[in-house]
Amino acid sequence: MDGGSLLFKTNHGLGGGGAGQARITAETIVKAYNLIGYDAVGIGRRDLAAGLDFLLEIRGKSQFDWLSANIIDMDTDQPVFKPFVTRQLGGLSLAIIGLTGQIRSDSKLLDENVVVEPWRDNLPSIISKLEASHDFLILLTDLDAGNCREIAEMYPMVNLIVQAREVDSGKPPTYLTDSAILVGAGQKGKHIGVMEVDWRPTRKWRSAGQQDLTAGKKERIRLQSQMKQLRERPELKNHYDNIRERLTALENTLTQLERQEKSAAESVSSFDNRFVAMNVSLPDHPAVLDLVNENKKLVEALNRKSPPSTGEAVSARGFVGWTACRECHRKQVQSWQASRHATSHLTLVEKGQQFNLECLPCHVTGADSNDPAAAIGRAADLQVVGCESCHGPGSIHRLNPASQRTAPITEKICLACHTPEQDDSFDFEGGLKKLKCEIQDDRAGGLR
Ligand code: HEC
Ligand code: HEC
Ligand code: HEC
Ligand code: HEC
Repeated sequence: MDGGSLLFKTNHGLGGGGAGQARITAETIVKAYNLIGYDAVGIGRRDLAAGLDFLLEIRGKSQFDWLSANIIDMDTDQPVFKPFVTRQLGGLSLAIIGLTGQIRSDSKLLDENVVVEPWRDNLPSIISKLEASHDFLILLTDLDAGNCREIAEMYPMVNLIVQAREVDSGKPPTYLTDSAILVGAGQKGKHIGVMEVDWRPTRKWRSAGQQDLTAGKKERIRLQSQMKQLRERPELKNHYDNIRERLTALENTLTQLERQEKSAAESVSSFDNRFVAMNVSLPDHPAVLDLVNENKKLVEALNRKSPPSTGEAVSARGFVGWTACRECHRKQVQSWQASRHATSHLTLVEKGQQFNLECLPCHVTGADSNDPAAAIGRAADLQVVGCESCHGPGSIHRLNPASQRTAPITEKICLACHTPEQDDSFDFEGGLKKLKCEIQDDRAGGLR
């Protein structure tokens, strides 16, 4: 199963330029999920970025269930998707419920008669329907951790919340209560979560005493260190005695708790959870690889058809291209030409990815996130990570260099492209050493 939010990278509507490509890729993701054999996926807000109708169409092509208990058709007062599914597993009966995070009411992503209701309106009745007949309740949701905790506290019969996390990857599960844990595998399919559960009829992951025991042990360490400090200060003997008394009392409680815990250990459930990072050196599954290649072809065919960029938009934003710098900064041009920045678009061509709107922004100069398609087929001297990728648009500076200075280079400029995602070992200082446009040739001089 999956917490959801897998189809798109945004939960706002899709912007004009990239919408077609995003839809094609969403369909490929579903085909891959069919192959992998998913059972159920929660509907997150990101799955609605192309609108409800698109998701309904996608549902028709999915061999798994899309779940949401709170996307409601107001005409019929019924959920639009299945609110939950049930499964038999390891002699237990499981119920898996989907819950969608709140979407702004003026959002155009839903039909006029469809709303995402607050979970408080729907969840109670579903849980009361399922709790008696099921041993284990799972929630798939993109709600934030605060809401998840509230749900866990209100409904002790919810045992596992799988959250579509926006940022963290592969963090270990957290205890929300004694009977519920929260887990999320992060985004972009980089991890697969494996969870083995030994489920006991008490429906608890830990006993109430366990929490007290952990807190008590922490307190013991604190008191011990205080005593150590006070021992060297005879003038504070009263205080010392007081702490010693507290410590003795705490020791007694801890011994008692430990004894209780030993006998309770048999009755609490346990889990073993790990996140397996998808190893990039492993060969791809042939059928999934075929899907990925097919997706590349479809994206290319679609974006090839988009009208070629006239270059007007990018020049309106002040970008002139590296050839306009050459007449005055010949040496810097030479040093830049020796770097991989100068061949960044060729790199995409070699991979057959020069029409992929997801790659272009970081491999050309002056990409515009509002109009990603304009990065296709731009003039050759902007089809690189050029001077202006780091120094900013140069149209004004070029005409009046002495009074119109370029902006200073900061790490932030590099990080726009050298994201952890693309370059997890980025080293600003080291990069600068390599790329600060130093004039290598000692005969250099004249114009800088
Ligand atoms: C517009 C996006 C973008 C910006 C801004 C950017 N880079 Fe890059 N950088 C790239 C890409 C793309 C590559 C890889 C190009 C290739 O191999 O085709 C790269 C490659 C590099 C390399 C390897 C170069 C080599 O020749 O071995 C270094 C080092 C580097 N960048 C440092 C920096 C630093 C430092 C900054 C900021 C001062 C910066 N980059 C700003 C996109 C960018
Ligand atoms: C967020 C910015 C960004 C995006 C988006 C991006 N790249 Fe890059 N790419 C970089 C940077 C930065 C480097 C240099 C990283 C380094 O030197 O380790 C790079 C390097 C590369 C390289 C050469 C180094 C390597 O890893 O083999 C290839 C090939 C590449 N990118 C292809 C792509 C493709 C294909 C896409 C789209 C699917 C893409 N990139 C999307 C920023 C980006
Ligand atoms: C990867 C980012 C990057 C790219 C691309 C880049 N520069 Fe630079 N450039 C720097 C850095 C860093 C410095 C050092 C000055 C600073 O820190 O502000 C610098 C300095 C300069 C200077 C001042 C040199 C001096 O001696 O003071 C000039 C002129 C210059 N660059 C021109 C260019 C031109 C022309 C291009 C394109 C051919 C270019 N740069 C491409 C990062 C870049
Ligand atoms: C007509 C000549 C001319 C052109 C064209 C030109 N520059 Fe310059 N540039 C200069 C001069 C002259 C300076 C030194 C200014 C000073 O120190 O008074 C300079 C300085 C710089 C510096 C150092 C920091 C600063 O702003 O003073 C950078 C970076 C730079 N230019 C980048 C570029 C880039 C990028 C382009 C192309 C878009 C470009 N220049 C086009 C003449 C030019």
